Amino acid sequence: MQTRIGIIGGGPSGLCLARLLSLAGIKSVILERHDRAHVEARIRAGILEQGMVDLMRKAQVGARMEREGLPHDGIVLTFGDRVERVDFAALTGGQRVMVYGQTELTRDLYDAVLSDANISVVFQAHDVHPRGFLDGQPVLEFVADGQPRALACDFIAGCDGYHGASRAAVPRDMITEYERIYPFGWLGLLADTPPVHEELIYSNHERGFALCSMRSHTRSRYYVQVGLTEKVEDWPDDRFWDEIRRRLPGRFADKMVIGPAIEKSIAPLRSFVAEPLRFGKLFLVGDAGHIVPPTGAKGLNLAASDMYYLSTALIAFYQQGRSDLLDRYSQTALRRIWAAVRFSWWFTSISHRFNDEPIERKIQLAEFDYLMGSTAGRTTIAENYVGLPFDASFG
Ligand code: FAD
Ligand code: PHB
Repeated sequence: MQTRIGIIGGGPSGLCLARLLSLAGIKSVILERHDRAHVEARIRAGILEQGMVDLMRKAQVGARMEREGLPHDGIVLTFGDRVERVDFAALTGGQRVMVYGQTELTRDLYDAVLSDANISVVFQAHDVHPRGFLDGQPVLEFVADGQPRALACDFIAGCDGYHGASRAAVPRDMITEYERIYPFGWLGLLADTPPVHEELIYSNHERGFALCSMRSHTRSRYYVQVGLTEKVEDWPDDRFWDEIRRRLPGRFADKMVIGPAIEKSIAPLRSFVAEPLRFGKLFLVGDAGHIVPPTGAKGLNLAASDMYYLSTALIAFYQQGRSDLLDRYSQTALRRIWAAVRFSWWFTSISHRFNDEPIERKIQLAEFDYLMGSTAGRTTIAENYVGLPFDASFG
């Protein structure tokens, strides 16, 4: 087997990258460990920045997102019983975000990818090993249908998430990993109930953080901060609904519509960055190279800038014989990544309960007061939440 770009991982990064390359006539093969249904069922991101929305359009997979996605012009922040709205549109010159679930986005991408003559997908590809990427001919060795296979390619895109094979294949002395693991996780619940409010609510409560999000006008996604030792089995639906209502101001808690969970899971919170993101002919993209805590809704949106930079660089390589953009990929992508790592860490630190010391909450309240009383403070939140721009000089 042979192709131009060997892509490890058929999540949003691998799928969207393959589409962007295909539209420039560049062929790729995606090796995905699971099957399509498994990848599509993962309930993860819900909020898309304009940059990701634009990329979906560019990949010609944006039609359903345009019809069904919900544009949001702001978010609500609460502290105890205080309620404040941050108005993105007013603070950032009309910018907004889009509510559109990762499940839907992944479905749209698979529909396009599986009927694209330039892209092949191998599902249930096991034991993937990238070889030869530092010097020589890159090859992806893997097992499919119980048979060993090899895919020769010009470049490898590692789009296989935090636990994938691509970063693991890099010699340890060539990579630096920066990591912080937070002392809590998020317990998420999805339900076919109308959202408690038309915008997202991020709540700092003395019992811990809570988030009210949504997928549509009839489907809600809620989260509560929980300890690292908590198990989903210990959270029957009633306990979850009681807990989230306790963490919200009365005017929201009183009108929350509850119902049976469609899905419930716990996600750990982590900040992680690998440097660099390029190793010879292997490039790391999306969660394979970086993770942020979900507080700022940045994970998938950071994958978007990686996909944009890498597709631009590969297209310049094949169409114009230029390798300068491939050389700049890591440095350019990392600048935006670190900005989002900082924002996600900071938003987590001002909204979660870290310990039992009363001074922590007093300092958080002082910061909340300052931010909400200052146009500069509100603008900082708005600018980062709607997403920092891609580097326009890359191209
Ligand atoms: P992944 O989605 O992890 O995809 C990697 C793919 O590679 C998977 O399909 C996997 O099966 C495959 N794979 C892994 N290892 C191998 C292997 N060895 N061989 C072959 N295939 C392999 N982001 C936002 O932008 N906004 C949000 O609102 C948001 N909310 C979130 C809420 C939660 C609770 C969580 C957990 C995350 C959230 N994120 C959010 C983050 C977002 O979901 C991720 O950043 C995004 O999934 C990254 O996409 P990816 O394609 O890089 O990686
Ligand atoms: C979600 O809807 O899953 C979601 C929204 C906002 C976040 C994180 C997750 O910050």
